[in-house]
Amino acid sequence: MSKLWSGRFSKGATKLLDEFNASLSFDKKLYHEDIKGSIAHATMLGAQGILEKSEVLKITEGLKQIETEIESGAFVFDISDEDIHMAIETRLIAIVGDVGKKLHTARSRNDQVALDFRMFVLGSNLEIIDKLKVLIETLIDIAKENTNTLMPGMTHLQHAQPINFGFHMLAYANMFKRDILRFEDSYKRNNILPLGCAALAGTPHHIDREKTAKLLGFDAVSANCLDTVSDRDFALEILFNIATTMMHVSRFSEELILWSSYEFKFITLSDEYSTGSSIMPQKKNPDVPELLRGKTGRVNGNLISLLTVLKGLPLAYNKDMQEDKEGVFDSVETIFISLEILNEAIKTMSINQNNMMQACATGHLSATDLADYLVAHCNIPFREAHFITGHAVSYAETLGKDISTLTIEELKKVDERIEEDAVKFLDLRHSMNARNSQGGTSEASTKEQIKELEAWVKSFGA
Ligand code: ARG
Repeated sequence: MSKLWSGRFSKGATKLLDEFNASLSFDKKLYHEDIKGSIAHATMLGAQGILEKSEVLKITEGLKQIETEIESGAFVFDISDEDIHMAIETRLIAIVGDVGKKLHTARSRNDQVALDFRMFVLGSNLEIIDKLKVLIETLIDIAKENTNTLMPGMTHLQHAQPINFGFHMLAYANMFKRDILRFEDSYKRNNILPLGCAALAGTPHHIDREKTAKLLGFDAVSANCLDTVSDRDFALEILFNIATTMMHVSRFSEELILWSSYEFKFITLSDEYSTGSSIMPQKKNPDVPELLRGKTGRVNGNLISLLTVLKGLPLAYNKDMQEDKEGVFDSVETIFISLEILNEAIKTMSINQNNMMQACATGHLSATDLADYLVAHCNIPFREAHFITGHAVSYAETLGKDISTLTIEELKKVDERIEEDAVKFLDLRHSMNARNSQGGTSEASTKEQIKELEAWVKSFGA
């Protein structure tokens, strides 16, 4: 069958051109958005008297039938239709006859694709937010169980100060909260109707864009048609937001990998979410977090690809822009499954509290507490206190001890001014609970953070 745009052509397209030019193989994913947009468009045309009511009805029914055909697998996709927009329109004309040819009045594929793709991206923003909420809830559940589970807090991957495992989980929960806010922000900024811009300059037909916007749930109508059909910022934003979230997922994954090694053994991933080695029978590998870490490569790539495609494009639509979709589809699918599996993997992991506690016994985690003690109780300036504590650490090392286990006699050998009560300050749990400033790691502060975050997740989007 000849193409919908073939009026001025005397020769048909070659098979090679069809293959190269077509986006149908991937943009058929947008069928739902395309049909929804077309029904709204036809409804608006009807309300404006551009189409008869009976014509709107026929078109709408035809489009609904097509949706059912696509969903049941009965729809025959033909690559020579080029893209999902023309595949649906061609089929509509086949079903409802000539009236189907009126649907494209006051519309171009340029604003049509801008609409469909934008609706897909907006919907994806919301789905990602839902999945992030589930993940935060899981992290909160784990945190609640572990506000008193001591673990070594690290900087430079070296023992630094004692913290609790719940506090560590909340650090990730807060990253994912920021991610939610970013997706939400993008959603709000981009919830603007592109349809009605036609090819690039608007249309002489007496359309009502506000009505279309209302029908499709957009907050507003785009301001400038030339900008609108050229704009893919909404796609860039979701790619950036996904890349950032996946960077958080990747950092978390890296810790899960480290923690499940024999050296740490802080957690054990459940068998359901671990894999074996084909040669080494003893192995249980953390493939899930490794893959999650690895997938940041492709989502970063997708962001850079689209930035590169768009850079230097003159206004308005250029066919280069057809390259905008696959990367977005890929990033969206990647983050969907990543968030789901990360959630399952952490829900089912076991937390080896004793191993974490044991790890706290080395590395002089409470050294800062001795320095703080010297400042607060012996009126020694912090720089000097730091120096004295350094001595205490090296003295403890010569004894083969951790600073937290030094006796008062041993401490007095380091500095006469140290009193009996210093021993208490060196205790690891005391050290953790001493960090009671807002946002700190003390058990009380951690519980406060849990309460606030829990209230936030519950109220978000409600
Ligand atoms: N398949 C095209 C895309 O994905 C749709 C828009 C085509 N517009 C055009 N004038 N060729 O970008």
